Amino acid sequence: MLIRNAPDVRSSEVTDERQYLRRREFIRLAAVSPAASTPASGDQSPLQIAKHVVTTDEKVNTFEQITNYNNFYEFGSDKSDPARYAGQLHTSPWTVKIDGHCARPADYHVEDLIKPFELEERIYRHRCVEAWSMVIPWVGIPLASVLRRAEPTSKATFVEFTTLLRPSEMPGQRDPILNWPYTEGLRMDEAMHPLAILAVGIYGKTLLNQNGAPIRLVVPWKYGFKSTKSIVRIRFVDRMPHTAWSDQNPSWYGFYSNVNPDVSPVRWDQSRERRLPGLFATRKTLIFNGYGDQVASMYAGMDLRKNY
Ligand code: MTE
Repeated sequence: MLIRNAPDVRSSEVTDERQYLRRREFIRLAAVSPAASTPASGDQSPLQIAKHVVTTDEKVNTFEQITNYNNFYEFGSDKSDPARYAGQLHTSPWTVKIDGHCARPADYHVEDLIKPFELEERIYRHRCVEAWSMVIPWVGIPLASVLRRAEPTSKATFVEFTTLLRPSEMPGQRDPILNWPYTEGLRMDEAMHPLAILAVGIYGKTLLNQNGAPIRLVVPWKYGFKSTKSIVRIRFVDRMPHTAWSDQNPSWYGFYSNVNPDVSPVRWDQSRERRLPGLFATRKTLIFNGYGDQVASMYAGMDLRKNY
């Protein structure tokens, strides 16, 4: 999200139909291999999916597009850097610490963190603050399931998410472009909302590192930067946490960061968006990224121009 020329979108055109067939194929594969596999670096394993939730009938982006046009500043600031460099990150073993204001803090191997819950495919619109968008078939679990298991106390009013800090494998962390490690936060009610998920896969298989393996947040009514990748810590806190992008530029990146066509605090005009692999911002941005009927009530009475 640093200011730079828009790089070319690499779009090897794979047809939708083929992707859907591939997806069915993954699901079929998952059905015959009940031992859901451990996420491994650069290696995609099929996941067993129990339920499919489709929130849009728009065309789903191709695997190629979703895995080659990324923001993951730990690996560089070009859209192609994560696909190029994220393979060097070791994502197994991987521990997620859950702590702060909760009755049952714990360190979980990522496999154990997700094991008690059924994996769901969630087809969501994905909207970056840079005004590009995609439609992504995530695989994950409701964030609320994981949070509830930790038994947050009444002091827990916000949740903070932290990405791994490992400059030896994340070359971008050797540059002080952001206050590393990358952190983000949600208000408690936002974190408990059924649309918020922890994703562990796309297209029926474990995430590639460039998309935030082995586990990342997805909050589809907010700009993509809220969706912390490669999470190592989830902490219940009693005040609005600092976040990497608002620390970098507080007037550009607000805490809420709900998709809003009427508020453009950064240089990107938010009234329209460019659906990848398209080159032009031809689509009107939808308030809350089109999820307003489900999430708007959480912001009733708030001035969304001030609380952007
Ligand atoms: N998480 C970390 N740790 N580092 C990042 O640079 N970029 C964010 C978000 N999560 C980012 C991150 C931004 S700006 C976006 S748009 C999404 O990840 C991109 O997710 P995708 O590459 O899977 O599409």
